[in-house]
Amino acid sequence: MKSIAGAFRRVGLTAFAVAAALSSLVNAEIEVRSLEERAASGNRLVFAHFMIGIVGQRTSASDYDADMQRAKAYGIDAFALNIGTDSYTDTQLGFAYQSAANNGMKVFISFDFSYWQTSDGTGVGQKIAQYAGQSAQLQVNGRPFASSFIGDGVDVNAIRSGAGSNVYFVPNFHPNTDTSTIDGALSWGAWDSNGNNRAPSNGVNVTVAENDAAYESWLNGKTYLAPVAPWFNTHFSSKNWVFPSGDLLFTRWNEVIQQGFPMVEIVTWNDYGESHYVGPLSSEHSDDGSSKWANDMPHDGWLDLSKPFIAAYKNGDTNVANYITQDQVIYWYRRNLNSLNCDSTDSLGRPDGYQTLSDTVYVVTLLKSAGSITIKSGSNSQTFNAGAGANIFTVNAALGQQTFTLTRNGASVLSGTSLMDITAVCTCGLYNFNAYVGTLPAGASDPLPPDGLAQLTAGLQVTTCKPTPSLGTNPPTSTVNNGGGGSSPTPTNCNAGTVADGESGNFTGLCQFACSFGYCPPGPCVCTGFGPSTPPATNGRNGCPVAGEPSAYDGLCSFTCNHGYCPEGACEYC
Ligand SMILES: *[C@@H]1O[C@H](CO)[C@@H](O)[C@H](O)[C@H]1NC(C)=O
Ligand SMILES: *[C@@H]1O[C@H](CO)[C@@H](O)[C@H](O)[C@H]1NC(C)=O
Repeated sequence: MKSIAGAFRRVGLTAFAVAAALSSLVNAEIEVRSLEERAASGNRLVFAHFMIGIVGQRTSASDYDADMQRAKAYGIDAFALNIGTDSYTDTQLGFAYQSAANNGMKVFISFDFSYWQTSDGTGVGQKIAQYAGQSAQLQVNGRPFASSFIGDGVDVNAIRSGAGSNVYFVPNFHPNTDTSTIDGALSWGAWDSNGNNRAPSNGVNVTVAENDAAYESWLNGKTYLAPVAPWFNTHFSSKNWVFPSGDLLFTRWNEVIQQGFPMVEIVTWNDYGESHYVGPLSSEHSDDGSSKWANDMPHDGWLDLSKPFIAAYKNGDTNVANYITQDQVIYWYRRNLNSLNCDSTDSLGRPDGYQTLSDTVYVVTLLKSAGSITIKSGSNSQTFNAGAGANIFTVNAALGQQTFTLTRNGASVLSGTSLMDITAVCTCGLYNFNAYVGTLPAGASDPLPPDGLAQLTAGLQVTTCKPTPSLGTNPPTSTVNNGGGGSSPTPTNCNAGTVADGESGNFTGLCQFACSFGYCPPGPCVCTGFGPSTPPATNGRNGCPVAGEPSAYDGLCSFTCNHGYCPEGACEYC
């Protein structure tokens, strides 16, 4: 398969010929240009911004392995390690560089000048030098790469002499300073804004595309590192605003493959506080207070959405359809409607700019061949023809269950009900303008870890909120009935079952309930039937075994109570 990328490079095939060549790779792993080749020319690199400031408690390089492996599997070339000046910074950089080396990833430092001093160019350079020799250091054009968050005015010559090397420096300077010492610049203008770090207002709307144009014209051929963000919502007492998000991730990736920027940075991997994470909630991190809007709000589907675009981008291909290897549906929406009033229990009020978000369910189809997508948001139901490739559909969001069904030739291909209903409940008493992201087929359960929940109840005005994930552990029901792909139907979801032989009869009721809705833990339960089923709506609560019951009840109670069956004597809400 190497020959595809090679031929593409050597003879400069037209887009049409590339598409034809790639479409002949039926079911094959799609080849993309190697990092070595792209890094040598500083062209078509993909980074993700990684906040070291919330992982200070990690204790080993292996604590980074899951992040490194996941990012690499999705095509991200390097993490931009955002550092302040905390006491744990060097320990964590050491772990991250080591884990990257162990997992075939690259990393570089992104200096956060909210903490670093622009007068300390030499110190910045010395920090680069400390890690530049490691095998995981990203080298561009054979030079150690470094970046920043803000930092206008730092002396770049001092950085290079402090580093003792010709650093390839692409900082987040604003497009009005001298470019003579930098190699390029990162824009943080990933969201339409009012030009003053808030959502557009009073008719002032500085768009992402305008930011791109301002940077490209200012850089005049130097490397433009373009941002790709999915969302923005933050709800701290010190900062309480949103930026227009909606279909942003889909729109932006399409812009990226059309524009072909030299480098892109996904903003971010793990900034839960600003709700633009595409990495897992389960990535080990401490709680800066963001669990109040991140708990039960996985974003993993956004990385699934990004994957074929990343591959297309790296190959210089403007047709993402060539990189879709399986049918997938990615959906997102907010868990409440704009009209919900939480003022009596949320003293911060709605975030600034919330009017720029609409009550909409967004659905992206990544399809190998055309199908039909039905989106049911509460009582709203609409069916759309979805072509092969990547397409987006929207329906007005309504209270209740959110159900998605992909059919082809009249047969159901993928179908499922989201674990997250849209409700008129102020969760934890608070406004939450984060997005819930789900997929078909359903992804793995992705709960916040205990450290990431530590601040959940701090300062709440309600007492009903517990610092635990409460989505439940079941995948939404889905059927995989591959009408077009030639393989025989594979039932993947249990829809009937009971207690396993030799297990306590006390499990009977729980197993019967849970197995009939797709969650049938082997051990206590045994599945006796497969097929589609739809669990009762989640009630947003978590169940635990009553005192003295064995841990085999943990998952069962969690699932059954979450769906309204919480039998006394076995389970209780926890
Ligand atoms: C800002 O401009 C973009 C591009 O024209 C448009 O899609 C968006 O709706 C505008 N936003 C606001 C809040 O007017
Ligand atoms: C089954 O439930 C009963 C009543 O709660 C209890 O006394 C008994 O110990 C349970 N048996 C097992 C094996 O859990």
